[in-house]
Amino acid sequence: MIDQAEQLRNIMKNNNGNKNGQDTRIIAVTSGKGGVGKTNLSINLAIAYARLGKKVIVLDADLGLANVNVILGIIPKYNLYHLIRKQKTLGEIIMDTDYGIQIVAGASGFSKIANLSNEEREQFVGELSELSSADIIIIDTSAGVSRNVLSFVAAADDVIIVTTPEPTAITDAYGIIKIIATEVENTELGLKLVVNRVKSVTEGKKVSERVINIAGQFLNLKLDYLGYVYEDTEVQQAVLRQKPFLASNESSKASICMKHLAGRLENMEYREGSGVPVFLKRLFGR
Ligand SMILES: Nc1ncnc2c1ncn2[C@@H]1O[C@H](COP(=O)(O)OP(=O)(O)OP(=O)(O)O)[C@@H](O)[C@H]1O
Ligand SMILES: [Mg+2]
Repeated sequence: MIDQAEQLRNIMKNNNGNKNGQDTRIIAVTSGKGGVGKTNLSINLAIAYARLGKKVIVLDADLGLANVNVILGIIPKYNLYHLIRKQKTLGEIIMDTDYGIQIVAGASGFSKIANLSNEEREQFVGELSELSSADIIIIDTSAGVSRNVLSFVAAADDVIIVTTPEPTAITDAYGIIKIIATEVENTELGLKLVVNRVKSVTEGKKVSERVINIAGQFLNLKLDYLGYVYEDTEVQQAVLRQKPFLASNESSKASICMKHLAGRLENMEYREGSGVPVFLKRLFGR
């Protein structure tokens, strides 16, 4: 919990605008098990944030099947690969949506970063610095461990781990937390847990306590419980309609949870000295 003075500073910071990207908050969304709701959470959290008056960009770092553009019902023509190849500028690969958020399709390019010359890399990072115009960047990663996922996790200001109450999802959530704890050096990582598809508040609390206690006991790792999202048939229906559930029905059970999550996150502190320039430095290890 943050005190009133901190809250006031945050409000003032937000009112000051975010001209140089130093206030951009970068949130990575990840999970151990696949299919637990990362993409739905990323998009709808982004929309909830946009409704708080924030400029939000969702970076789709998962090139799997059920990804950001499918849920939004749009087809990105270009992705970061085109940026790396200098075929497009960042402005040309960012896509507007009908929901007040923008998206950038992603990460296939990121594995190619290692092969870029210094000059190419400088230019690429220079282009990405334009992301600084956003207040919030939400990175939807793929499930499980890969170098890409770990790079994003290590570079972000906040990392949201998504699980469901299913025992397999909980075990895998613990698995990814353990890997993050051992692989990522950054000790200030703001790790947060969201329990998706709960049937009651108590269920969310129980699951979170289990994961948080194990992480604390065996990994000496601090993990905050960000909150829960109800199991809600409107989520499936929205996916089928290719329209985000928050935009389909703002007062559905899942939508209300989403607004709470955005509100809570907004009131939580995040690490000092963040923003796009620092994020890129961490991402590319410069
Ligand atoms: N709160 C919810 N209530 C009901 N169904 C849900 C909820 N959250 C997710 N789902 C269902 O789970 C499916 C998978 O969600 P989503 O694509 O967001 O998961 P993911 O973690 O991004 O998957 P992947 O690991 O494949 O990227 C959705 O299409 C929907 O049917
Ligand atoms: Mg996904």
